[in-house]
Amino acid sequence: MVSRVIPVDAFDLVIFGATGDLARRKILPALFRRFAEGQMPPEARVIGAARSDLDRVGFQAMVSEAFDEFMGDTAPDAKSRASFIEMLDYVTVDAASDQGWSDLATKIRPDVVRAFYFSVGPSLFGALAAQLGKFSLISPDTRIVVEKPFGNDLASARALNQTLAAHFNEQQIYRIDHYLGKETVQNLMAVRFANVLFEPLWNARFVDHVQITVAESVGIGGRGDYYNRAGAMRDMVQNHMMQLLCLIAMEPPYCFEPDAVRDEKLKVINALDPVLARDIVRGQYQAGAESASFHEDIGAPDSQTESYIALKVGISNWRWKGTPFYLRTGKRLRARASEIAVTFRDPPHSIFGETVPWRTNVLVIRLQPDEGMTLRVMIKEPGPGGMRLKDVALDMSFAEALGEDAHIPDAYERLIMDVIRGNQTLFMRGDEVEAAWAWTDPIIAEWQKTAESPEPYDPGSSGPENALMLMHRDDRRWREIR
Ligand code: BG6
Repeated sequence: MVSRVIPVDAFDLVIFGATGDLARRKILPALFRRFAEGQMPPEARVIGAARSDLDRVGFQAMVSEAFDEFMGDTAPDAKSRASFIEMLDYVTVDAASDQGWSDLATKIRPDVVRAFYFSVGPSLFGALAAQLGKFSLISPDTRIVVEKPFGNDLASARALNQTLAAHFNEQQIYRIDHYLGKETVQNLMAVRFANVLFEPLWNARFVDHVQITVAESVGIGGRGDYYNRAGAMRDMVQNHMMQLLCLIAMEPPYCFEPDAVRDEKLKVINALDPVLARDIVRGQYQAGAESASFHEDIGAPDSQTESYIALKVGISNWRWKGTPFYLRTGKRLRARASEIAVTFRDPPHSIFGETVPWRTNVLVIRLQPDEGMTLRVMIKEPGPGGMRLKDVALDMSFAEALGEDAHIPDAYERLIMDVIRGNQTLFMRGDEVEAAWAWTDPIIAEWQKTAESPEPYDPGSSGPENALMLMHRDDRRWREIR
């Protein structure tokens, strides 16, 4: 088989916050996997940078421990681990002072791609950017990578954009939404724009409604403080679910280039209707037999933050006016299951009388787990008894259809390599993030106005009762979370 791994150019990648959770859990294991696949050239260097007083050897040991802790069965063997670790270096730096910066500057090579990963809280973005400028570390070819949360509302997101814009141009800023790095999320574009089948039907005339579900079975883990400030709306809807909605709803970009794609996503966000209080259901998980309640997890008995949210969203443009998009996401639900279900309208007239069941053509795209696609279609039930109809599933599991090629790399692997390649297609542009907040802020203000408490729901359930009503009252129903 011809290798499809195209090595990237030599690079220096500096990870600020290299001793933190994200670096140890995601960024460094992702880099290792790309290294093991042969995508990182031998001249690549990864420089950890943090306040911790470590040296190169100490950092290498920390990374090796992180592999054992977070990579499970896929943790590297001694030989490949040793070669990867050779690429690592470390420097102690403090964003708030000049300590360590000259040291860092001496480690950066002039003639290779240069990327700085800000794996730190947004409050440090400004200081880091300023220090990079002060120590002449910003070349025209320099890139920075920033993580969510990119702001907490429109004003803070704008302020962050301005802070970064003082030192970098937009082409140098890579805002990560890790959902865009997921293979199955990218596949949404392939399904829509590499096939002719769906596009003629992909509009309000033929689509009754769309359901986007991102259900998680875990609770909020140890992130109580952050989550209490964010809630499901800011944590999942403003970013990840918004991206899914954009990819499903956008017009075909004229080519697969960063701005062509991002322009189309932005148009969708700008066309989103405001959401009324009656179209929002928020919930909080209760304690279960073996699990704590949301309030206990968060350590705040009065918290009004939601661990679940369901919304009915309208898009005011020619393609989608009249087709609602129902979004739901939550913690401690029945299963970990993310999918998009496009439910088509009934045939305009049934020549078989009234026997046709209700809204049967549904295209389900399963994002995780059990990645795949199902199309439900009507057939005649075989045998006597007249023209009896039945809906069946044309079902494709990517694992079965693609065999060993179905291996799905972690989102960070793809995204970090794209940073080095200089491809921004799967990263959010500044105006996109601001537009998403401009839509989100009034929704949050709307429920703050009503001061209604989130509705309790049982752990392991499919969410609050009222979320079911959100669909029932429109004569529709959610798909089961399994
Ligand atoms: C993160 C959220 O961005 O995405 C988490 O902060 C959430 O709360 C996670 O659990 C979900 O990501 P994934 O890749 O597990 O679906």
